[in-house]
Amino acid sequence: MKHLIDIMEMTVEEISQLIETANDIIANPEKYAQKCRGKKLATLFFEPSTRTRLSFEAAMYELGGNVLGFSEAQSSSAAKGESVSDTIRTVGAYADIIAMRHPKEGAPMVASKKSIVPIINAGDGGHNHPTQTLTDLLTISREKGGFDDLTIGLCGDLKFGRTVHSLIGAMSRYEKVKFVLISPDELKIPEYLKHEVLEKKHLKYVETADLEAAMPQLDILYMTRVQKERFFNEQDYMRLKDSYILTPDKLRNAKQDLRILHPLPRVNEISIAVDDDPRATYFEQVRNGKFIRMALILKLLEVK
Ligand code: CP
Repeated sequence: MKHLIDIMEMTVEEISQLIETANDIIANPEKYAQKCRGKKLATLFFEPSTRTRLSFEAAMYELGGNVLGFSEAQSSSAAKGESVSDTIRTVGAYADIIAMRHPKEGAPMVASKKSIVPIINAGDGGHNHPTQTLTDLLTISREKGGFDDLTIGLCGDLKFGRTVHSLIGAMSRYEKVKFVLISPDELKIPEYLKHEVLEKKHLKYVETADLEAAMPQLDILYMTRVQKERFFNEQDYMRLKDSYILTPDKLRNAKQDLRILHPLPRVNEISIAVDDDPRATYFEQVRNGKFIRMALILKLLEVK
């Protein structure tokens, strides 16, 4: 049995196959409508979510399956002190596959050790968010036709943004990808990513605080929210939260075929005026999230 805890557990070939399946689902949804008939997905969300939870649930319904679960820790027996391990052993008796979000880094990995059904990490603290990365990769692949030779700018909270951490790992495996890491000093990517991924693999990257200066070279601009929930004090958050606000005038020198992505939710970092720009791709990205999660559920349940 396989789980998905970290995107780096998947080979490039496995990711290509998932993207291929997702594209086929988009083109031929009727072929997949009954593939998970009789199967149940449990969504265990110990942290808030709109897109990840609902896209998993929509994905399972569109495959003909059913869904059960909870959307906050307080409505589960975690509020009475039950451990993640016991919760997982319990839910494994009711469901065929589990998508789990937890504020503690590593909690889905601990869960996978005790589970008799596949576990999908739907976000663990400031660590990883592999299914958002699959969503990002499907979007980039559909918009750009592949991943090689792209210059990708990641902007905002690169320290706590788990989607950024997973995406850098995933993109590091393609040819001649260049990273432009745009953040204030306090929100730079963690040292372990710099040493273990970027430097170890001799990847091209630059760190800068200047979004507008970086703009002309970018093929992808991946904007992120400053992660309020990961800050230790409100003052630091208030000081950093509006470090970057993407407005139409800041796109003046951007490439015509730039694609602007954002895992969402957005707070203030992309002005709504940018939504009308044809390069804004974040709501298309939301749609893609459901299709890649359908492909992932099929793979982990070994449905042909
Ligand atoms: N991108 C993402 O994880 O969104 P949610 O927090 O709404 O699930």
